[in-house]
Amino acid sequence: MDIKEIKSIEHDVLVIGAGGAGLRAAIECSAQGMDTALICKSLLGKAHTVMAEGGMAAALRNVDKRDHWKIHFRDTMRGGKFMNAYRMAELHAKQAPDRVRELEEWGAVFDRTKDGLINQRNFGGHRYPRLAHVGDRTGLELIRTLQDHGIHQGFKTYMEYSVLDLLKDGEKIAGCVAMVRDTGQFVIFKAKAVIFATGGAGKAWKVTSNSWEYTGDGYAMAYEAGAELMDIEFTQFHPTGMVWPPSVAGILVTEGVRGEGGILKNSNGKRFMFDNIPERFAPETADTEEEGNNWLKGVDGARRPPELLTRDVVARAIMKEVKEGRGTPHGGAFLDIASRQGADYIKRKLPSMYHQFKVLAELDITTDPMEVGPTLHYFMGGIRVDPDSQMSKVPGLFACGECSAGMHGANRLGGNSLSDLIVFGRLAGIGASEYSKNLSNAPTIDNGQAEKIIRNATDILNRERGENPYLMHDELKDNMQMQVGIVRTEEELLAGIDKIEEIKKKFANVKAEGASQYNPGWHQALSMRNLLITSEAVAKAANLRKESRGGHTRLDYEGERDEWLNVNVVISKAGDGEMRVEKVKRKDPDPELKRIAQSKIEDLEKEIGLES
Ligand code: FUM
Repeated sequence: MDIKEIKSIEHDVLVIGAGGAGLRAAIECSAQGMDTALICKSLLGKAHTVMAEGGMAAALRNVDKRDHWKIHFRDTMRGGKFMNAYRMAELHAKQAPDRVRELEEWGAVFDRTKDGLINQRNFGGHRYPRLAHVGDRTGLELIRTLQDHGIHQGFKTYMEYSVLDLLKDGEKIAGCVAMVRDTGQFVIFKAKAVIFATGGAGKAWKVTSNSWEYTGDGYAMAYEAGAELMDIEFTQFHPTGMVWPPSVAGILVTEGVRGEGGILKNSNGKRFMFDNIPERFAPETADTEEEGNNWLKGVDGARRPPELLTRDVVARAIMKEVKEGRGTPHGGAFLDIASRQGADYIKRKLPSMYHQFKVLAELDITTDPMEVGPTLHYFMGGIRVDPDSQMSKVPGLFACGECSAGMHGANRLGGNSLSDLIVFGRLAGIGASEYSKNLSNAPTIDNGQAEKIIRNATDILNRERGENPYLMHDELKDNMQMQVGIVRTEEELLAGIDKIEEIKKKFANVKAEGASQYNPGWHQALSMRNLLITSEAVAKAANLRKESRGGHTRLDYEGERDEWLNVNVVISKAGDGEMRVEKVKRKDPDPELKRIAQSKIEDLEKEIGLES
């Protein structure tokens, strides 16, 4: 290989990943005058963002005037079990309303209240109806709007390019090497800054709402480049994925179904969530069926139904019913909206769900209950970043959206992801633009680094024989599902880590048949490196955190433990190439933010009443 023959392209900023966060970051970089490239592995608009169906959370106060950024912030901190980066949760709660209104100015067509305002619906863990929505297609509308707006901002888009690894000039980012997926050609991108918006790694598990793109690319590339990963043990299992038929197991059933009044029942017809209300939420959640019903009729001040507890709580409750023999025929719980709302209302507010069950499961949700169960949906942890600029430990490397850590703590509230994407996508765009403008010398590309990346990729094609990447992926998915699942024990985690080591050894000898053009086996093999690094990080962090908090449940260490509230688990690559897994003390929170997060709701509402 002659490196001089490899195509080379230069931009100021590279945004990698074209979901909501990547699109918003690219729009901002262009607005800041940066020559910007948006690189995505799939087609523009094909992103997990569309799986946030039910809405985007922002204290717009259109449906309930009592809402306020402080209440949104408090809900987010409580949902995240106080592990959130306080500053990120503050920025998010304060800036989300402006970002939603900006989307509307850019053409997003939200559902309306009777007064013509953006409509907002209830969702788990949010005290007031807070989710601006477009039926059950909110993520899709967000992507459509950002695409439409972005296309006129002048950034260049590279679709179906897989980024293989980052290039550095000393400590700083200098660009990346990518591969064009259909032709197999390599491209060297030179840039002053890189923003990762690469999403999560659901594809390490067997049952997931994620599609094929979500293989932990950002986590692994950032790790290899010297950045830190944080809170990666906190993986969110959305309580309601389809469980039947098997070919579609894991596909999301939006929380919007419960937000519109849907209830969960076991095979005895019992509404079991009333038996699963944690103390923290008890005073704010209905504890009798009657109160739950009152809430559905919209009685002001009534408490919330337990189906809208946070996702970690609902997912574990479903698992318990199944484990104790009260599950549905296909191992889930019944989700019933048919007996709560009329057919017209269901079709109007949940058109995609109606269609999805009709087509995939031959079930009419306006007459019959759905069968649902937990599905790996989201990573709360990810690349450790500065809350204001979104820059990682590596100068010039930024991250936003699901691939960054901090905002959601130990558990994300539904609807906080779409608003996260637009708030932090914009902040990362500003951060990367400022960094690039202030850079005194443009970085230079080290051809040796690029050659090594390309050689590692082509070795997979060139070796005589080796291990099959698809079988390896199946083994990893089974392992993560069984040993690093929704509930965890040391024994299982250690067995999971051993298995990952075994698969890593096979990966060293992975072989893809065929040539570099149109070769999905090669693509699969390339993504295995990223899946393995991410899986190892999750399993090792989960083993270190000896407590149960949010999306991380340890059967052998039940309950939240104070000593663990003060530390993040941080992962980095040690000098000897081993994965370093450490407890790092958290910064003391701003006292005012701490006060707000811990306030009693009545006191906070009084204070807000006095302010306005
Ligand atoms: O259930 C949902 O519509 C998912 C929303 C989210 O993950 O934010």
